[in-house]
Amino acid sequence: MNLFNVYPLYSVTPVKAEGAYIWDENNTKYLDLYGGHGVISIGHTHPHYINALTDQLNKIGFYSNSIQNPLQQELAQKLGDLSGCEKYNLFLCNSGAEANENALKLASFVTNKSRIISFNNAFHGRTSAAVAVTDNKKISAPINLQHQVTFLPLNDIGLVIHELGKGDVAAVIIEGIQGVGGLDEGTAKFFKKVRKVCKKKKALLILDEIQSGYGRSGKFFAFQHHKIKPDIITTAKGMANGFPMGGVLISNKYKAKTGMLGTTFGGNHMACVAAISVLDIIEKENLMDNVNDINNYFLKEISTVPKVKKVKGKGLMLGIEFDFEVKELREKLILDKHIFTGGSNNKKLLRILPPLNITKEQIHDFIIALKEIVSQ
Ligand SMILES: Cc1ncc(COP(=O)(O)O)c(C=O)c1O
Repeated sequence: MNLFNVYPLYSVTPVKAEGAYIWDENNTKYLDLYGGHGVISIGHTHPHYINALTDQLNKIGFYSNSIQNPLQQELAQKLGDLSGCEKYNLFLCNSGAEANENALKLASFVTNKSRIISFNNAFHGRTSAAVAVTDNKKISAPINLQHQVTFLPLNDIGLVIHELGKGDVAAVIIEGIQGVGGLDEGTAKFFKKVRKVCKKKKALLILDEIQSGYGRSGKFFAFQHHKIKPDIITTAKGMANGFPMGGVLISNKYKAKTGMLGTTFGGNHMACVAAISVLDIIEKENLMDNVNDINNYFLKEISTVPKVKKVKGKGLMLGIEFDFEVKELREKLILDKHIFTGGSNNKKLLRILPPLNITKEQIHDFIIALKEIVSQ
């Protein structure tokens, strides 16, 4: 059997990894500033993470949501404490798209409405409702186009007020910081006003923190920079450092009913242990402080690189915009300098999503490599 070939692939075959480094089958070492789309939060093969997972696998790896699993409550408690979102309840699933799918479904259950407001250039995943609120027609099939979705420009509060005024909106969904779109974000004033209008018009505010969450922006969730409280928060990616896991944090205003949401794999023993150990490491190693330190260092260093037009994003969710398209630059970084970076819908933007424990030395190595290529 052959693979159903849907991905454009680099010719690199990683076989082992440690911290912010990856080695291929020829033992070539790469600096990983992308973490497989922002998944690697605590670095590759962290010893605490490995020990916790190995230990759990030797006890029980999986059982479905039909038995007691105290690890789920332990995870919810730790996540509430560390994120400051104690007043939310947690539903566990397996991916970012699944988290958003459940968030949108819940908003529709709660409001008994179905129209969703999303934003230009948004990316929320590939399942049916998640892809319908994603602003990319190329990845929607006719079956996905049956949802009622209105896309608006970011930061145009007048249009948000106008659409919510129609009274048929179940939810507004917005990324804390746009990832795939290219690191654009709402202003604090915009987020605050959207929060207020949603409340007034009884629509739920869903914050997609799948990429911008888990400490990456320098606060636990990116929306916390704007001092607002969403009705629903979705997470995945960095949550379990590569073990598939997603989460929906639901304001305790909304009550659960048996059977309302569900999944076979979500919240299994291995996933919970992976997620708990990520939180332990973020806390014990003060990774959010490191994110802010490295961000300061990065901003100073990047200002010395020629041809950089703009730096976007927060913390370690960063976009470097050049005055040229970056496809060739990314290829040179990976093939000549052995550094992984990411792209986005904005073809002139290099996206970096390094592990939260990246060091100044590693960022310095990247800056040197970048300067060499850009100056050629
Ligand atoms: C903001 C955002 N939401 C949702 C998703 C979908 O997550 P997944 O690929 O785990 O389904 C992504 C993935 O890139 C994302 O960046």
